[in-house]
Amino acid sequence: MRIRMLLLAACAAAPLGAFAQAPDALYVRSLAATCANCHGTNGYTVGGSAVPGLAGMPREYMLRQLAAFRDGSRPATVMHQIAKGYNQAQLDQIAGYFAAQKK
Ligand code: HEC
Repeated sequence: MRIRMLLLAACAAAPLGAFAQAPDALYVRSLAATCANCHGTNGYTVGGSAVPGLAGMPREYMLRQLAAFRDGSRPATVMHQIAKGYNQAQLDQIAGYFAAQKK
């Protein structure tokens, strides 16, 4: 009887574990979607776009650029303000998201 209860508890817990990941992935995706207006959906720009695409951009490179926008050491038009709108944890997640996209 006790074993049966343990099995039931294990089965009930398994799907919860799977659900626990989903909101996090959705959160990161929605953060990345805030870049889509200018950098294209999922970081893919259309041909001839003056704004660089972000899909497949190496994580370290993107984080360095975002830091340079934040402290003003890289010249920019709009990215100074935009980079300041996110905390470091959010920028890390955004950079990880785009780095995982195919170029
Ligand atoms: C309002 C339009 C706009 C939005 C929204 C926007 N960007 Fe940008 N981004 C630009 C422009 C324009 C540039 C070129 C630099 C400049 O003029 O500010 C740029 C440049 C960049 C670069 C440098 C690319 C390179 O090749 O070195 C990175 C990285 C970047 N943006 C990341 C982001 C991320 C991440 C987001 C979302 C959190 C974002 N941008 C949202 C317009 C935008």
